[in-house]
Amino acid sequence: MSTPRRFLFLVSSSRPHGNTEQLARRAATQLPAAVAQEWINLADVPLPVFADLRHATAEAWAPHVEGNARRLLEATLAATDLVMVTPVYWYSLPAAAKLYLDHWSAWLRAPGWDFKPRMKERTLWGISVSSDTDPRFAEPLSQTLRFTADYMQMCWGGFLLGYGNRPGEVLQHAPSLAAADRFFAAAR
Ligand SMILES: Cc1cc2nc3c(=O)[nH]c(=O)nc-3n(C[C@H](O)[C@H](O)[C@H](O)COP(=O)(O)O)c2cc1C
Repeated sequence: MSTPRRFLFLVSSSRPHGNTEQLARRAATQLPAAVAQEWINLADVPLPVFADLRHATAEAWAPHVEGNARRLLEATLAATDLVMVTPVYWYSLPAAAKLYLDHWSAWLRAPGWDFKPRMKERTLWGISVSSDTDPRFAEPLSQTLRFTADYMQMCWGGFLLGYGNRPGEVLQHAPSLAAADRFFAAAR
């Protein structure tokens, strides 16, 4: 029997109920009812400043697997599908999403968690909104996520890019909504 699908949506907009979350919620309506969904806004679970401790002693790792970091680590490992819900900020990831990925560098090495082998073959997806209608300017973001999936030997689900600037604008943009309605077809 295959593992039941469980989607974790990690929202990294720095304003509440932004376009990206609204687009992601629209796409998520297409998931089958049997698929569990967990939604976390990274602003509600702030991570500590990242420190590169790759070459420090094991005890130094503790802050990266405690408190909010542990909450996110456990939610990440509980998901079969991780959806990064990230607006385009300066062609790339908002700081909260980047900080979360930086913490992967610690989780990869945190003793006893087996982060990389456990993430293998899970699926990484990206959902984004930009205020520029030219999709080329979102490529650094989509490539970052795609390369991250490759590095982690995860499956790549795909990248949904909508258009909108003011809050709620994406819901007025018919092509973005049509793309959202198709996005999770592979997960059905
Ligand atoms: C700090 C910052 C940087 C941004 N950089 C870009 C950008 O590089 N390209 C772009 O098209 N839009 C950019 N935008 C616009 C947002 O992508 C756009 O307003 C989007 O709708 C915000 O999504 P949200 O409502 O989910 O927060 C930027 C917005 C902010 C606040």
